[in-house]
Amino acid sequence: MTDNINFAIERNPNPADAAKIAEAHANPGFGNYFTDHMVIIDWTREAGWHDARIVPYGPISLNPANAVLHYGQEVFEGIKAYRHADGTTHIFRPDENAARLQCSSKRLALPALPTELFVESLRQLVALDEAWVPPHGEDKSLYLRPFIIANEDFLGVRAAQRATYMVIACPAGGYFSDPTQPVNIWLEAELARAGRGGTGAAKCGGNYAASLLPQETAYANGCEQVLFLDSCEGKYIEELGGMNIVFAYRDGTIVTPESDSILASITNKSLLQLAADAGMRVERRKVTIDEWREGAATGDIVEAFAVGTAAVVAPIGLLKSQDFTIENPPVTEDSVAMRLRAQLTGIQNGDVVDTHGWMVAT
Ligand code: PLP
Ligand code: COI
Repeated sequence: MTDNINFAIERNPNPADAAKIAEAHANPGFGNYFTDHMVIIDWTREAGWHDARIVPYGPISLNPANAVLHYGQEVFEGIKAYRHADGTTHIFRPDENAARLQCSSKRLALPALPTELFVESLRQLVALDEAWVPPHGEDKSLYLRPFIIANEDFLGVRAAQRATYMVIACPAGGYFSDPTQPVNIWLEAELARAGRGGTGAAKCGGNYAASLLPQETAYANGCEQVLFLDSCEGKYIEELGGMNIVFAYRDGTIVTPESDSILASITNKSLLQLAADAGMRVERRKVTIDEWREGAATGDIVEAFAVGTAAVVAPIGLLKSQDFTIENPPVTEDSVAMRLRAQLTGIQNGDVVDTHGWMVAT
């Protein structure tokens, strides 16, 4: 607990009963059930961050002229809390998400929320809604969605003078429709999610809005995610709509694309650390789509997987495009993706020793 941060707590008078929480835990999916409370902290240019509170989960009222509705001045995060075998709850690397939210806020001209306040807001919400953290050992967790919105009723196009930070939470299972199957992805040849000097490295709603039309094309082609290429040359692999991508090479090297218009994934950073710990060579560098095509054809690239908080580590089965398809070899327990996934989720769930000090107790 941080002594100097006081959250006023207004308890939900009608919290979910045990049966409702059990229903949510049985089949949480992603973003379907929300816990009993939410965090709110206000910011104004004059007063800074103030009025930290936890209130019953529910709708918020916005004036139709609110800047966020018109200009999308908004940033968010995604982070999970896990139940360990002894019943305690822990959050994965919240300092990293705090730092990334600050970077996103800077790019979107929103105020930076101090790390201490961010971490404490998550700890307090998880502590209050602790019953919502799924049981240990079921590959489920409590997904936390912190976000900051411009909160000023003004139509002039400039940075808002008022903002609001909130955190909501939902029990989460797998992100994809069938977590036991590799995910198929669609290569978007025309549309980009982000461009040079744009907001691609920030976690802001606009990037996801830009990904929705290609995402529809992906669904129409039997795929669950879109792979974007760089917007200048249409040649370098960037990332998926909501995940980074990682490749495993036959010689044991792990490679992930480097670009200043993709999100710096904390899952990816952690997996690369675990791979390096295990003595694997890891590279962050530019990767062309041709390198993947050729590598898959020669057998030099043996695996591709999607990584992120929601996705965890999801092996990619097919890459489909208008012109060609790449089919990855079948996934086994021994695949690099599955081994790294087991190690990461083992640490997150408290079953593998957390040598890096990544887990923070709530
Ligand atoms: N890339 C995008 C566009 C994302 O939305 C996400 C999800 O947060 C990621 C990558 C993965 O980032 P992280 O591992 O920090 O969740
Ligand atoms: C996350 O993994 O936290 C995201 O925000 C990605 C999105 C696909 C839900």
